[in-house]
Amino acid sequence: MKKLTFGEPESVVPSRFCDGLSYVETPVSYPVDRIDFFQNSRGCCLVLPLGQDEHIYGCGLQTVLFDLKGKKLTLRSNADCDRATGDTHAPVPFFVSTAGYGVYVDTARYAEFYFGSSPFIGGGSSREGITDDTAELYGNSGDGGNISIQIPVAKGVDIYIFEGDTITDIVAQYNMFSGGGCRVPDWGFDPFFRMYVEYTDAQVLEAARDFKRDGMSVGVIGLEPGWHTHAYSCTYKWRTGTLYPNYREMLSELYAMGYHVNLWEHCYVHPDADFYKEILPHCGNYAVFGGAVPDFTDPEAVRIFSDYHRDKLVALGIDGFKLDECDGSDFTGSWSFPNMASFPSGIDGEQYHQLIGTLYCKTLMRALGDKPTYSLVRSIGALASPYPFVLYSDLSDFTQYIRALCNSGFAGLLWTPEVRYSDSADEYVRRLQANIFSVMCNMNGWNDPRIPWKNHGCEAEVRDLLGQRVALRPVLRRAFDRYAREGVAPARALVSDYTGDSATYGVDDEFLLGDSLLVAPIAPGEKGRKVYLPDGNWRDFFTKKPVAPGEFEVETRNIPVYEKA
Ligand code: GAL
Repeated sequence: MKKLTFGEPESVVPSRFCDGLSYVETPVSYPVDRIDFFQNSRGCCLVLPLGQDEHIYGCGLQTVLFDLKGKKLTLRSNADCDRATGDTHAPVPFFVSTAGYGVYVDTARYAEFYFGSSPFIGGGSSREGITDDTAELYGNSGDGGNISIQIPVAKGVDIYIFEGDTITDIVAQYNMFSGGGCRVPDWGFDPFFRMYVEYTDAQVLEAARDFKRDGMSVGVIGLEPGWHTHAYSCTYKWRTGTLYPNYREMLSELYAMGYHVNLWEHCYVHPDADFYKEILPHCGNYAVFGGAVPDFTDPEAVRIFSDYHRDKLVALGIDGFKLDECDGSDFTGSWSFPNMASFPSGIDGEQYHQLIGTLYCKTLMRALGDKPTYSLVRSIGALASPYPFVLYSDLSDFTQYIRALCNSGFAGLLWTPEVRYSDSADEYVRRLQANIFSVMCNMNGWNDPRIPWKNHGCEAEVRDLLGQRVALRPVLRRAFDRYAREGVAPARALVSDYTGDSATYGVDDEFLLGDSLLVAPIAPGEKGRKVYLPDGNWRDFFTKKPVAPGEFEVETRNIPVYEKA
């Protein structure tokens, strides 16, 4: 890996907040002398060479885009973006190429990446003649010969170049540079069930007892906003007056049944929170949902917020949190702080949007102390692989969910294609099939009081799938041990391991899990699908019968999963 400095980099960059950062310089064969850099009143720009045959992946948790060749992205933290703009829950300015290299750009700005669109004079256009097809007219082949990275405001930037034979190798180095993959306790691999937002403590207990009685292998119970006296913004205090009069007894019984408990929150502090006055001087100058926004780059804000969580929540036995709404709101109303917001440390709103998710995870890791966790977060950024926090979204498009899973493995991110309330048994089962083969099995029941398998009459199938999830523990254990030790992402796109096989370059609907599994989920409403298996000795994961590599059609009520010898 090699670090290169251009101009005068900013001081507020992701690497500054990455405790485990591990830079070991090694020689690279990348043609560094072919990188151009310039600056103007808007910011600065890097221009890197791009070969005709290269394909590019990464830039965080993209849900719409996959192969980035010919695409333009602006990396901004935002909730629920279902367009090809680059906006995402998890913007990561790191991309990888099939030509054997990856580039991490150490910026917390809304950087723009043009992958081969050659916006420069002399780039020319290879299109001949005229057409009335707008897609063709505006389409970009990506043969512009360069990658341009435009960083607003900054007068300079550090970049890091990683090289390897496969994308898996390159990303592993980026993850080790970030401090290695996160550590996850065994219980984190068990199914999570998030309870309806308006359940009382008695209803939570009743559902949890039913799960045990009915043989549903749920291991973690999640409570949604209803546990707070006020949730948008948050008080972090139990709603004892109405929904949770007996929360202590509820927690004791849940623990006695063997459950782990995860609490929903966001970091916008309501005036009724016990620590509101203390934290206010360490907050930004704009409120979100009427709550103060702590500046988690300020150690005092971190101390106040995390001490409260340690003393009042972790002390009760809580072992995880769901950190909601730490992304932006350009597509979901206007609830978030503006880019012009100021924070006491001097960081501005744009930078804080890109950093807040990661810093929020770090703050809650401090609250948890030595307690192992497997938690959730709706936004995280660069250099985040050491955090045992899994991303999720309010979007629910199945194709995008699987594509996000593929993309998560290019960026040091974990993603759950969680299962929410579905329209039919078929939809619930198809979604759950994909979910059990992901890094976190999460059934999110926050907005429907009905238990989904009872509602849809698919209890036996769900019981079987949850049992299969528990049986996957050893596979996940090995994958996560490798993630921590070597940085190899637990879930990856096919092109990541099979970078030499161009047939994998567009495959964004199948993924690899751990060392040996290839998962090809079937979408709700479909009976089958086309599967591509790269070269190798494969067998069916369930029947153990050999399967020849290549492309073939498969029809099954089960999920197609293959195992490599
Ligand atoms: C959303 C979140 C959902 C649920 C809901 C509760 O922002 O994505 O999973 O937690 O809030 O209000």
